[in-house]
Amino acid sequence: KVVAVIMVGGPTKGTRFRPLSFNTPKPLFPLAGQPMVHHPISACKRIPNLAQIYLIGFHEEREFALYVSSISNELKLPVRYLKEDKPHGSAGGLYYFRDIIMEDSPSHIFLLNCDVCCSFPLPSMLDAHIKYGGMGTMLVIKVSAESANQFGELVADPDTHELLHYTEKPETFVSDLINCGVYIFTPDIFNAIEDVSTNREGRANLRRLSSFEALQSATRILPKDFVRLDQDILSPLAGKKKLYTYETNDFWEQIKTPGLSLKCSELYLAQFRYTSSHLLASGDGEKNAKIVGDVYIHPSAKVHPSAKIGPNVSISANVRVGAGVRLIGCIILDDVEIKENAVVINSIVGWKSSLGRWSRADGDYNAKLGITILGEAVTVEDEVVVINSIVLPHKILNVSVQDEIIL
Ligand code: GDD
Repeated sequence: KVVAVIMVGGPTKGTRFRPLSFNTPKPLFPLAGQPMVHHPISACKRIPNLAQIYLIGFHEEREFALYVSSISNELKLPVRYLKEDKPHGSAGGLYYFRDIIMEDSPSHIFLLNCDVCCSFPLPSMLDAHIKYGGMGTMLVIKVSAESANQFGELVADPDTHELLHYTEKPETFVSDLINCGVYIFTPDIFNAIEDVSTNREGRANLRRLSSFEALQSATRILPKDFVRLDQDILSPLAGKKKLYTYETNDFWEQIKTPGLSLKCSELYLAQFRYTSSHLLASGDGEKNAKIVGDVYIHPSAKVHPSAKIGPNVSISANVRVGAGVRLIGCIILDDVEIKENAVVINSIVGWKSSLGRWSRADGDYNAKLGITILGEAVTVEDEVVVINSIVLPHKILNVSVQDEIIL
């Protein structure tokens, strides 16, 4: 049997996602109309002999309860949320729930970061992992040399695919091959995490004995149950014939900012053409709005037939889109109203916000503040223009703004 674990972090993580993570945990923010975490979960469906999916995080349990029960029913597969009492790090969180994870006696454990967007080639990773015969195999991808330092950089043996060297977000360039945050392990991973904790405890005791206080404060000691997968496990185990790499040539992005979420929404909408074409709006029939490219429209949304929508637009539940509206490259969240002849381009419009007649929200990925974000319950009055700006929740805009954060 195989189990899958998705690390969903907690409220102190995902801060770059503000103001969109103020009242919705980032893993539940919709991309292509589905919660972020839904995409890795549905990819797990393709894993042979999958027994369970666990989400591990330190968000409140109630925030995930509804999603977890509906997705379990939909997939006919148990999906459980496991809440840590405090952050334990990406490996410590896994270790904290080792007894529950091992209940099904799995031979393999998939471990996925929730905030990556990719095609999740999980079955082929499993095959490769079994062939390599190591303790773990990680998904890797080549990125541009300039962007590599935002990720874990690594060196792999081109023939055996063994992980030879690993450095987390290095200051000087190591390699353009990076860690995608998608792994498969044998249960031996728990021993590896335990070793880190034990060693750390040993070192802490040693310091206490020598009462070398200056040293102790200079090398800040992490709590023994806080273990990071990258720095504490991957780096020391590289080059020991335990870890291997599986390279993907498909799409991959990390989802740290609202701008990246809009980009990832586009990637997932494009993927729907092959995996879930029924979710894409067709625009057939005279009563429907004109649809351009990949668009998701929630069945409860009301879109006027004279509106023109797409490409890369996701419209969530109970949204109302008026006559003559034009939407391009945007995520419109639940209960938003967009009145007649408004235009929204490269923007995210928060829950319950409203855009007045002839108003405009326009963003640019390359602008200082990036795309335009309207937080929850923002009102943009008639004819007001909002360009490359971030508007915090509950603001009323009656004058036009550009390149501003409206607090
Ligand atoms: N449950 C739980 N508890 N989850 C956590 C915790 C924790 O204490 N800390 C982090 N996570 C989750 C995050 O929500 C995220 O899904 C994942 O673990 C990794 O988060 P970070 O440890 O903050 O690392 P990162 O996202 O900056 O970078 C990691 O992922 C990149 C790929 O997206 C690194 O592994 C990089 O090397 C890698 O390139």
